Amino acid sequence: MSQTAAKPLASDFLSRFERQLHLAFEDPRHAGKQPEVLLEACRHVSFAGGKRMRPLLVDHFGAALDLPEDARIRLAITAELIHTASLLHDDVVDEGTTRRGKPTANARWNNSVAVLGGDLMLCIALEQLEDYPREVTFEAVTLVAEMTRAAMREVDARQDSTWTLPEWEAIAHGKTGALLAFCGTASARVAGRTELIERLGQCGHHLGLAFQITDDLIDVVGHPIDIGKDRLADLRNKNPSFPIALARSSNEDFRRALDELWQRDDLSEDDVQRFGAWIVELGCADKTLATVEDHLDRAMDALGPFAHGPGGEHIAEWAAQLRAQARWSLESQ
Ligand code: FPP
Ligand code: MG
Repeated sequence: MSQTAAKPLASDFLSRFERQLHLAFEDPRHAGKQPEVLLEACRHVSFAGGKRMRPLLVDHFGAALDLPEDARIRLAITAELIHTASLLHDDVVDEGTTRRGKPTANARWNNSVAVLGGDLMLCIALEQLEDYPREVTFEAVTLVAEMTRAAMREVDARQDSTWTLPEWEAIAHGKTGALLAFCGTASARVAGRTELIERLGQCGHHLGLAFQITDDLIDVVGHPIDIGKDRLADLRNKNPSFPIALARSSNEDFRRALDELWQRDDLSEDDVQRFGAWIVELGCADKTLATVEDHLDRAMDALGPFAHGPGGEHIAEWAAQLRAQARWSLESQ
């Protein structure tokens, strides 16, 4: 299938997905029930212009497996609502005030509405799975537990800077990799292709880590185009990121100096810039790019021959675009 022929199909899927997502919130199990503010908060964040990357990934895996569209849409809603519920909760944890260009639910209403709206959204996410094997629901529940633990580990890591590379990896898998892995494993389960569960899960996991690490790389070297994001936010906010983890594990002087810096409350902008430059000098930006490429290679290996067929070719295209973006950010710094 050529790229030009495939694109309209993806957007057809997305318009049907949007319709079904509206209907999920109108389900009689929830619509018209008090207090309505919870559904209002769900809609507020669900229709605020998210990229719909997870629904598209489900559609691509589904196309590769020849999964009927109704199943793809149900799984896509599950994946998107688990993601969106996690953002409702994350904005409470992080005290976020804007998301997708709109006030967060905690800012627009309050923390109670955001947390409980997120809980209701999770229930709606799981309801989509009622017609599928119970393993799919269990897997979704396990995923939510994994995401929850990773979010707590990240909070802890911000308080205690002694975290290591394996700790970073566990957080990144829980924050990003696990849900993209679910897009693959759940699609394989619903399609009855149990022999592909592991492979498609690995594909999603490695894609997720590649996205996360590219984000971390761009935070250090900057995006080639001004996207309105502050550079070095991870250093400034004591956030665990891949290049910081790499620099800490490969250079004792860096680790000690960063630990000292992060003990202080008065981080100056000069300090932040100096540590950013130090990460690059240590070769950690180059190594970060190499790691992105390694994850993309592994994602493609896991996808195997599907990379050349329906759906899979879109995933391969995403991987190629991400590889180009990561290389470009480093070259143009
Ligand atoms: C955004 O990270 C946050 C996540 C990707 C996951 C957050 C997960 C939880 C709060 C656990 C609860 C999970 C569920 C499913 C209810 P970020 O803060 O780095 O990114 P941001 O800049 O977009 O906020
Ligand atoms: Mg956040």
